[in-house]
Amino acid sequence: MLEVHLDEHDIDQQLRADVRQGLTATPKWLPPKWFYDARGSELFEEITRLPEYYPTRAERAILAERAAGIARITEAKTLVELGSGSSEKTRLLLDAFVSRGTLGAFVPLDVSGTALSAAVDGLTSDYPGLSVRGVVGDMTRHLRHLPEGDNRVVAFLGGTIGNLIPSERAAFLTDLRAVLGAGEWLLLGTDLVKDPAIVVPAYDDAAGVTAEFNRNVLHVVNARLGADFDVDAFEHVALWDPQQEWIEMRLRARGAQNVRITDLDLAVEFADGEQLRTEISAKFRRPGLEDELARAGFALREWWTDPQGMFGVSLSQATT
Ligand code: SAH
Ligand code: TRP
Repeated sequence: MLEVHLDEHDIDQQLRADVRQGLTATPKWLPPKWFYDARGSELFEEITRLPEYYPTRAERAILAERAAGIARITEAKTLVELGSGSSEKTRLLLDAFVSRGTLGAFVPLDVSGTALSAAVDGLTSDYPGLSVRGVVGDMTRHLRHLPEGDNRVVAFLGGTIGNLIPSERAAFLTDLRAVLGAGEWLLLGTDLVKDPAIVVPAYDDAAGVTAEFNRNVLHVVNARLGADFDVDAFEHVALWDPQQEWIEMRLRARGAQNVRITDLDLAVEFADGEQLRTEISAKFRRPGLEDELARAGFALREWWTDPQGMFGVSLSQATT
């Protein structure tokens, strides 16, 4: 079953507002949720299989080891997943919850309707005893549509929380806490600060898949807003910012570009070499994260990393 809180009209309206704001700003930027049309979601799945992209493998290893413990500690009746994508790693959790016998419902939420409906179809047939209800929505706007219930676990995996800028991140955690009751759970996957020689290639792979993923946002703007970006005239840039401890993804204009965005009646000029920021991917340290969680009303109960300390999964509880 699929519930839609974000139809094509809403998407267009949001995209228009974001593109107008971002492309008329200095420096130019676009928010990352627009990577994920059908093609973008496919490219992301391809990224998760790249040799350089360690986060998916590290997080999967942690979940494989800890899923049974997570089921035992939380005894969840409902599992909600934000930014669920293919929900592939989540199957480790579902298996553990199902064998524990407490779980009745799984509710994945994603902006990408194509990725979500494929995931929901697969899960519905593979977990016949479970109610699987997909929600097409924006987790920064539609948290109030989460299912009612007690003892819910909200999983937010893949390090996607690092794609929000710090102010959005604080607002998101506060909003999430507000829709949960005291004692309910947040299972959060966060990529950890490490040597940039490992982080940077994860966002700038040899096969060029991440570059194609990054440029996909221009295809989305072309297709949805009648723009005429010459997509191949933009180069992928991945930059480690040591102060902020995040990776910044940019697109750099090769030669001056004149772009017309018909549906916004807007002309946008890029100077040769000008860069457009498309995404940040923040990396975390446990103390900072624990502090951010506490400020939003979550108490960290468990903290697990993979053997190499690349990725962290935390289990926190909404406090009173
Ligand atoms: N959880 C999966 C996918 C991570 S990729 C994993 O760990 O592999 C990030 C996912 O978040 C994508 O599926 C994307 O469509 C979704 N997403 C990005 N911004 C979103 C938003 N604002 N609201 C809901 N989903 C969002
Ligand atoms: N949540 C993923 C991450 O931060 C998304 C991602 C992976 C991504 N590779 C990317 C986003 C490249 C933009 C560009 O790791």
